[in-house]
Amino acid sequence: MAHVCPWWLGPLLASPLRRLWQLPPALLAPYVRAGMTVLEPGPGMGFFTLDVARLVGEAGRVVAVDLQPRMLDGLRRRAARDGLAGRIETRLAAPDSLQVDDLKGCVDLVLAFAVVHEMPDSRAFFAQTAATLKPEGSLLLVEPAGHVNTAAFAAELIAAKAAGLTVAARPTIRRSHAAVLRKAG
Ligand SMILES: C[S@@+](CC[C@H](N)C(=O)[O-])C[C@H]1O[C@@H](n2cnc3c(N)ncnc32)[C@H](O)[C@@H]1O
Repeated sequence: MAHVCPWWLGPLLASPLRRLWQLPPALLAPYVRAGMTVLEPGPGMGFFTLDVARLVGEAGRVVAVDLQPRMLDGLRRRAARDGLAGRIETRLAAPDSLQVDDLKGCVDLVLAFAVVHEMPDSRAFFAQTAATLKPEGSLLLVEPAGHVNTAAFAAELIAAKAAGLTVAARPTIRRSHAAVLRKAG
């Protein structure tokens, strides 16, 4: 079973100090547009989620799916504080299911930041998320270089390919491995 980040690290992951090396609005701007539907598996307490919600605007929607209820509690509190709760739907995942079958073909962007290495089965993760994407949709895969080495990231890209997702770009994100994946063909 993959190691899952404990819920009590949620406030640290969502801390404003992290913005010193990862600034969500700048990092997300190339990928998120007004009106988009964004799926964020493993949002934790929402370091990225609140800025995604700001970028999609009132016409957009963010579906944030986490395994841990206490991560989702923290995310909902932070969203309510910033007046963004109406744009963010939270869902509780099962260990082997993101519970997103109803989103087939509806999603413009999947934001998978620092989460795939915690999944019990990365192939199943990519199959589930690929199914949610619109034909022109994309998946931004980012993994922390401190936890995921180059070979492990390459293995994730192979798992993504098995689900029909190929590498469209390799953006540079500090302290991370990153790839933009799109549906093949
Ligand atoms: C390292 S944290 C990253 C949080 C956030 N993406 C960030 O970058 O700040 C990983 C998150 O993925 C969640 N997670 C782990 N396994 C999961 C699964 N099978 N389904 C959904 N979420 C999962 C954890 O509960 C945790 O909130």
